[in-house]
Amino acid sequence: MASHLFTRKPLSLLLEEMKGENRLRRVLGPVTLTSLGVGAIVGTGIFVLTGVAAVDKAGPGVILSFVAAGIACIFAALCYAEFASMVPVAGSAYTYAYATMGELFAWIIGWDLVLEYAVGSSTVAHGWSAHFQDLLKSFGIVMPTAFSQAPIDFNPDIGRFYLTGAYCDVTAIAITAVITFILVKGIRESAGFNAGMVIVKLAIVLFVIVAGAFYINPANWTPFAPFGYTGVSFFGHTVLGQAGHSGVPLGILAGAAIIFFAYIGFDSVSTHAEEAKRPQRDVPIGIIASLIICTILYIAVSAVLTGMVRYDKININAPVSDAFAQHGLPWAQRLIDVGAITGITSVLLVMMLSQPRVLLAMARDGLIPPSFFGAVHEKFRTPYKATILTGCFVALMAALLPLRFLAELTNIGTLLAFVIVCTAVLIMRKTHPEAERPFRAPLVPLVPILGILSCLLLMFSLPVENWWRLIVWLLLGFFIYFGYGRKRSVMARMRKAQAAEKA
Ligand code: ALA
Repeated sequence: MASHLFTRKPLSLLLEEMKGENRLRRVLGPVTLTSLGVGAIVGTGIFVLTGVAAVDKAGPGVILSFVAAGIACIFAALCYAEFASMVPVAGSAYTYAYATMGELFAWIIGWDLVLEYAVGSSTVAHGWSAHFQDLLKSFGIVMPTAFSQAPIDFNPDIGRFYLTGAYCDVTAIAITAVITFILVKGIRESAGFNAGMVIVKLAIVLFVIVAGAFYINPANWTPFAPFGYTGVSFFGHTVLGQAGHSGVPLGILAGAAIIFFAYIGFDSVSTHAEEAKRPQRDVPIGIIASLIICTILYIAVSAVLTGMVRYDKININAPVSDAFAQHGLPWAQRLIDVGAITGITSVLLVMMLSQPRVLLAMARDGLIPPSFFGAVHEKFRTPYKATILTGCFVALMAALLPLRFLAELTNIGTLLAFVIVCTAVLIMRKTHPEAERPFRAPLVPLVPILGILSCLLLMFSLPVENWWRLIVWLLLGFFIYFGYGRKRSVMARMRKAQAAEKA
């Protein structure tokens, strides 16, 4: 029956599951949670996509693109924080949707999170590869072209994909394989190890800001917005600002839609809710503090980068380290490459760790086959089958598809997840007004509504093909849900058992 599509997983059941025996230890405080957030956020977005956005879409105005994307994320973060404080269980947006909007929406978001985590990981692996190759090049070692990049790429000047002449990006495959291996063996998600990586990458980012400031030429900031201040289209029809080839939106908002990728990851703090000492207070602090810290750093880095190099001379593969090379500082280039590689590795670890865990949560609810996705390795106690499958998917995408394609697909998928979480907060306030909310998003309904609108705006600032790709992905998801999960889910089986009892 149609109403079963909207069966909700009761909040009481979620809280009950939380009390189970497999509780994780509550050891994380606000500082550690913030550091985990920063660890998951600062990566390919700032070190690579800032260049793509500045060159193709926004010019020096990319500084404002970071402000715009940061604002959209703050609204979504406040909504994530409210949920994380109410239901401090692992599972993130998927679990929240199950509790509020029912099974079909939970499925949609779980399926959609593959775009955020798995396709996002492929994007991050690209960034890793670009910096690794840049580092090798600075020592005079050049990878053979056939194995240095994806076989296709996108040329914004002609608005088309073209063959690069390469077979695949071997470095991206290699780093994905190494991370998969580590995740199958199981890393004890060591907060200390994470803190080390976070310190390295923050030190590099601060180095870029402080050292780079000496090389700023303010003339490079003019023209500030060569492509305009907006850039919004509605299914191919330009609504605001300029359009490039095939109606691709250009301008500062279009830039924001690309560098939104740099903010993805703050939501991962909510997946640590089970381990937080005082989740109701510390998880919202962790989410919001990590986001604010990254926003400030990003604005400063983009201002320095566009001040150091004229926007149309920025290198799109490793823009930040190359800016220092252009100023005759190869040692600084190498230092930044090493810092970027370290930082991007920690992002890749978190993203590739999150994907199998969301699949595990879905498998436990019976929405995908538990025998495969729920299988936990006897010795390592990790969801090894789901982790290996994730690794193969990530390696394949990273090896064969271009960075822009992957980044845009990740962004539209994640923005949709944010829209659903903001909507879920509005629904939950209506359906469960009495539920305990240790952290309440301020100014409801204004904040969730602004979150929904700003995320939709960014979705419409992406090239229209991304909507078609998202729709095809969701249709594929529906096909799987109606063919499998709808009949086999735990909730469906519970319903059947209750009906049988009554009969
Ligand atoms: N925000 C993460 C990055 O930029 C995904 O790499």
